[in-house]
Amino acid sequence: MNRSVLLRSRPVGLVAESDVELVTLPCPEIADGEALVRTDLIGLDAAVRTWLDDRPGYLPPVQVGETIRAATVGEVVESRCDAYQIGDVVTTLGGLSEYSVARDDVFTTVVGRVSEGTADVDRAAMHAVFSSTGATAYFGMHDIGRPRAGETVVVSAAAGATGSIAGQIAKAAGAHVVGIAGSDDKCAVVVDEFGFDSCINYRTADLSQALKEHCPNRVDVYFDNVGGPTLNAVLGRLAMHARVVLCGVISSYVSGDHPGPSNYVQLLAKRARMEGFNTLDNWDRYDEAYAALRTLVDSGSLKYRAQIFDGLEHSVDALNALFTGSNIGKTMLRP
Ligand SMILES: NC(=O)c1ccc[n+]([C@@H]2O[C@H](COP(=O)([O-])OP(=O)(O)OC[C@H]3O[C@@H](n4cnc5c(N)ncnc54)[C@H](OP(=O)(O)O)[C@@H]3O)[C@@H](O)[C@H]2O)c1
Repeated sequence: MNRSVLLRSRPVGLVAESDVELVTLPCPEIADGEALVRTDLIGLDAAVRTWLDDRPGYLPPVQVGETIRAATVGEVVESRCDAYQIGDVVTTLGGLSEYSVARDDVFTTVVGRVSEGTADVDRAAMHAVFSSTGATAYFGMHDIGRPRAGETVVVSAAAGATGSIAGQIAKAAGAHVVGIAGSDDKCAVVVDEFGFDSCINYRTADLSQALKEHCPNRVDVYFDNVGGPTLNAVLGRLAMHARVVLCGVISSYVSGDHPGPSNYVQLLAKRARMEGFNTLDNWDRYDEAYAALRTLVDSGSLKYRAQIFDGLEHSVDALNALFTGSNIGKTMLRP
């Protein structure tokens, strides 16, 4: 049997328990060219919530009645496909489900081969670092932020999955890195565990004033995960020729409203650049990202934290954690 979480109604605001249903159905039968994957860990990304809205995006919305889409790491338990053997560990878009069907397509990657003795894979690291999360931090920093030694880099949602890695990449490049996060506890983790130079609690500080104190030389790179008033405040503190990496706007995913930053004129005054990106556009460069991240992990310069919820019955809590801010590091669910 296979337990899965289905979308029952489109959420308004945070996801309500009544928007989803945990069902038990027979395990899917696989056809030629397919493999059955037993999910070990599900990764909860901000994108999971956006896929529940009926809005066009880079992937189609999850339809009412479908399993909620999410990235997963799991083990092949049955195969009718040359690409995957029983025992292989794969990352795929298995969704909130105990089992999923994988095909030989771009969304499924073998990360451990039983035939090569490499199937003993750290599943949490696969979600936290060697996934779209780590790749996003890498491409955003490497391609757009391009921090140089001595520059000042600010990262919002700094205690979160993407932000914590983005900041550590900038730190490894020799930058002075300042985080922005939503509690004193998170700020302590950002500094003590992720090694940022300092961190501002945007919920209690006057952000514009705090940016003056933490960034006396202004901000050369801003890695923006949140948009809204935080983006506006950092735009007011840009240095000449600053780069603003538009990674995400989580402050408005739930409402769907995107208030414009009045300080955008600072881009003009500071000859600055603000550039968005979608990490999936760089699919053919994931190996490059993972190699760079591997070097940082192996040298001890990149730490990650996994916050793991146990049981599909906690799917709503796990997903909402990203939007209430109760998560630290990469949020995951063990089905
Ligand atoms: N461009 C791309 O290709 C790409 C790919 C992946 C992810 N992303 C983006 O990366 C960002 C981070 O995603 P993630 O999956 O790594 O999540 P995450 O950072 O692990 O969790 C989300 C964090 O966002 C913060 N947050 C939530 N609501 C907020 C609000 N109203 N105002 C300010 N901060 C708020 C919370 O931290 P605080 O407690 O500190 O507020 C929360 O912990 C998202 O914007 C996501 O869309 C972009």
